[in-house]
Amino acid sequence: GQLEKGGYPHFMLKEIFEQPDCIHDCMRGRINVDADNVVLSAVIDNKDRLLNAKRFIIVACGTSWHAGLIGKQLIESFCRIPVEVEYASEFRYRDPVINEQDVVIAISQSGETADTLAAVELAKSRGAFIYGICNAIGSSIPRATHTGSYIHVGPEIGVASTKAFTGQVTVLAMLALTLAKEKGTIDEQYYLSVVRELNQIPEKMKEVLKLNDKLAELSKTFTYAHNFIYLGRGYSYPVALEGALKLKEISYIHAEGYPAAEMKHGPIALIDAEMPVVVIATQNALYEKVLSNIQEIKARKGRVIAFVTKGDTVISQIADCSIELPETIECLNPLITTVPLQLLAYHIAVCKGMDVDQPRNLAKSVTVE
Ligand code: G6P
Repeated sequence: GQLEKGGYPHFMLKEIFEQPDCIHDCMRGRINVDADNVVLSAVIDNKDRLLNAKRFIIVACGTSWHAGLIGKQLIESFCRIPVEVEYASEFRYRDPVINEQDVVIAISQSGETADTLAAVELAKSRGAFIYGICNAIGSSIPRATHTGSYIHVGPEIGVASTKAFTGQVTVLAMLALTLAKEKGTIDEQYYLSVVRELNQIPEKMKEVLKLNDKLAELSKTFTYAHNFIYLGRGYSYPVALEGALKLKEISYIHAEGYPAAEMKHGPIALIDAEMPVVVIATQNALYEKVLSNIQEIKARKGRVIAFVTKGDTVISQIADCSIELPETIECLNPLITTVPLQLLAYHIAVCKGMDVDQPRNLAKSVTVE
């Protein structure tokens, strides 16, 4: 059955490898066969309410909150509506300013996280329109929302969330595209290129998964580490946060994700020859700036593990190790770059002999405060 490990040693690895199929399932019936149009029916059905929103507020916890940070960038850039991203636990207790013109997006894999559910109830009581992005069908959060879209990635068993994250980002991209087209805020050619590229993501993820052996090998050299820094900018900043979270959850190595440009305001003080620094340095508008961040780390003898776009010849000269990833459009890059970071965390934890599916102190779904 679906709940077995299917030949994989852990659910987490199985779920990482399922991602190409999951993203395919997530897009099924939403992107048309010609890959030139995407429709999330919940967006169309609630068009009036969504098109008139003055603001979106995304509430979530943990990994789902990281997906929310990517959602913010997608919705702001495609739809030109301001988006705030809040930890559900903070939002619910600070008497937030919220009204009938707000749309709240609640993101939750389990659909049962107590803080996210409470944030939904609060926002609903103030008249906001609530859109859920969940995985578990019929769970509490989808039942409490006005509408929503399931991510359809199948049951996630590993405590560390993997396929739910990429499913959430995929739904957020489809939501932003559907809404932007209705609003007329997105350039037609650009819209087409994003939809086509989205359709290509499962194939590109398969390519990334071929790096598994290489990442397993690399991981052996990091079992000594007590700390890790993860850096990224723009769409890669939430990916850095997510990469760091995966590592700390299952390997118990302290890891911090940071926006690369903020490094000079603190974390740079931590860098010495013992400090591994994972940098998401794929080709994008901020490539040159990330390159200079890498030079700053190398000048302080940090060990740089760089994730670059295939064919990169510059960073591979400077980084201690560089891993080439397939090229994609900047706004969808998280769907590619997250996967090797999941694998890196997984293999480091396995090398350390940790129970990756059941990490200490953590629960798959947190139904109490
Ligand atoms: C727990 C899990 C995380 C998850 C978070 C939010 O902490 O261990 O993996 O990201 O809850 O869960 P949700 O089901 O609301 O997405």
